[in-house]
Amino acid sequence: MSENKTFYITTPIYYPSDKLHIGHSYTTVACDALARFKRMQGHDVMFLTGTDEHGQKIQDKATAKGVTPKQYVDEIVEGQGGVKDLWKLLDISYDRFIRTTDDYHVESCQKIFQTLYDQGDIYKSVYKGHYCKPCESFWTDSQLVEGKCPDCGREVYDAEEEAYFFKTSKYADRLLKLYQENPQFIQPETRKNEMIAFINQGLQDTCVSRTTVPWGIPVPFDTKHTMYVWVDALSNYISALGYGNNAYNDYDKFWPANIHMVGKEILRFHTILWPAMLMALDLPLPDRVFGHGWLLLDGGKMSKSKGNVVDPVVLCDRYSVDAIRYFLLREIPFGNDGIFSNEALINRINSDLANDLGNLLSRTVAMIEKYFGGTLPAERTAGEFDQDLIDTVCAMPAKVTECMDNLLIPQATQEIFKAIQRANKYIDETAPWALAKDEANKPRLAMVLYNLCESLRMAAILLTPFLPSTTVKMAEQLGLPQDSLRFDALTFGAKTEYTVQKGEALFPRIDAAKELAELAAEQEAKAKAAQAEAEKQAAAAMAQDAEPIEHLPEITIDDFCKVELRVAKVLTCETLKESKKLLKMTLFDGERERTILSGIAKWYKPEDMIGRNVGIVANLAPRPMMKGKYVSEGMVMAADMPDGGASVLFFPDDVKPGSGIH
Ligand code: MSP
Repeated sequence: MSENKTFYITTPIYYPSDKLHIGHSYTTVACDALARFKRMQGHDVMFLTGTDEHGQKIQDKATAKGVTPKQYVDEIVEGQGGVKDLWKLLDISYDRFIRTTDDYHVESCQKIFQTLYDQGDIYKSVYKGHYCKPCESFWTDSQLVEGKCPDCGREVYDAEEEAYFFKTSKYADRLLKLYQENPQFIQPETRKNEMIAFINQGLQDTCVSRTTVPWGIPVPFDTKHTMYVWVDALSNYISALGYGNNAYNDYDKFWPANIHMVGKEILRFHTILWPAMLMALDLPLPDRVFGHGWLLLDGGKMSKSKGNVVDPVVLCDRYSVDAIRYFLLREIPFGNDGIFSNEALINRINSDLANDLGNLLSRTVAMIEKYFGGTLPAERTAGEFDQDLIDTVCAMPAKVTECMDNLLIPQATQEIFKAIQRANKYIDETAPWALAKDEANKPRLAMVLYNLCESLRMAAILLTPFLPSTTVKMAEQLGLPQDSLRFDALTFGAKTEYTVQKGEALFPRIDAAKELAELAAEQEAKAKAAQAEAEKQAAAAMAQDAEPIEHLPEITIDDFCKVELRVAKVLTCETLKESKKLLKMTLFDGERERTILSGIAKWYKPEDMIGRNVGIVANLAPRPMMKGKYVSEGMVMAADMPDGGASVLFFPDDVKPGSGIH
């Protein structure tokens, strides 16, 4: 990591087209842990996050809701339960929140676009390509996967329009050189190879304006164009510092960024287009771009359209914010995809947070209260196992720091929990309850409990970036002033006296079987409610589309009883040379075989009919057909379809031929 004392870290700016889900929270929580860690190391940190508020998708959503796009995004960003509320709930310690609709950002973008145009890096041409509306991306033929959008797999449509282009291709060689000379620029390493391969395929210029999306920043010198998503979005990283505007004055202090943290699907924009834009503007390049994997659900990406989003607010309410933060940071291999499941979450909470951490604290505090009335005496005697515990705990800060420097967040948490587990083992080894039986052992008992307090204090300091509210509770129970959870206090023995106070369990143990059963029941109820709602909506839609029905005159039950409706089994079925419309069937009606000709040949093949039970009008007078060549003895019942087709009424195989239909 860079040597300077400032540290600038960014999340992507989120599309506020819908409420954010747990997948979005993952990036932000990871950045938050890094930002907090750097602050504790003494860096002057700028942690930027925000929202990317322009584009077709947002315009469409606003129109559907009958509000302006700005009103729509205001509600999702600033409103109750909106993006800012979610970050507050998750304890996200961002220093600045940028909205791309903020005036200062618009001003910067227009200046950047103008500069690039004036110097020939942006030019006007015609865009021909495939456009994916949900992703707001144009794709070339070779980029499509099976003719669909390579990112989301949805349909694309052909588009051609006048547009401005950024000369990305001009920077191909400089980009390759950048990757070669700065091996840390793209992380993880495997993703770098993907980017190199992409450039080597032949880099194309990037479409940077649209004429059909009014909800965007106008191109200053040609206002029928609006800026097309990426120039607007990527520029946020410098406009938020005051580049090209007077709202802030932090550009010189914080640029270049130390880390841009992004999801793997937008890594390309951040490692190709963004550095190329910065090269064109003659600005320094960020130190690193980290492309993390996705948080998947049952093997698929979470998305509103798939209806499989997990709501972070619901999870935080149920399990606590820190439990969710911990799960995200610990369970998802950084850089790779991770799977979210209720079971994995509950297991993680129980094993690490309740058993290892929670128990260590509660056992230690309880024993100090029980054996020493809450205050450890000064007379303490060292003994067996102490050094091994102290060595493990003392090695922890350097190991955690190394992991964090390399963005290995799960490994960093693991290092802390290794020390916590070591401390739990130390309790078993030293058996304080046995020592307590003999007054003469009290100095030894005091030392054992003191070593545990120091281990917990060191762990609490290092856990603060990950579990900020849990470590406040730990400090309270250990009798530590809140401001003592500092990295410069990471020396074993730095605190010599302890007066503890028992508090609530940090993470109550969850009865996994009961919880999972409850969740499954809730899920089922939700699914049922969703299905009922969908059916209700479908019925409403059908009623709206319904055409008037031509009714026949009313009949009496006696009239109805004159029609003999029965189930019959199709024994043979064949097409006729003389007619494209008719199928000729032999049916067993429960009593005898009869022949029926039915005008369903366009929609059914003989093999669709043979062996099936159908409904027939059995007492229809036999009718000669095909100039008397055949006689049809009844009628097969079928519904009219909207396209003019027919849908035959089939009965299950176990219905006996001859059964009456009423
Ligand atoms: N607006 C662009 C980013 C512009 S940055 C200059 C965008 N927004 S987004 O809201 O669609 O996604 C924001 C981030 O959330 C992306 O990094 C994306 O990878 C991340 N995630 C969205 N769903 C995710 C998961 N299920 N799992 C992990 N991260 C995911 O892209």
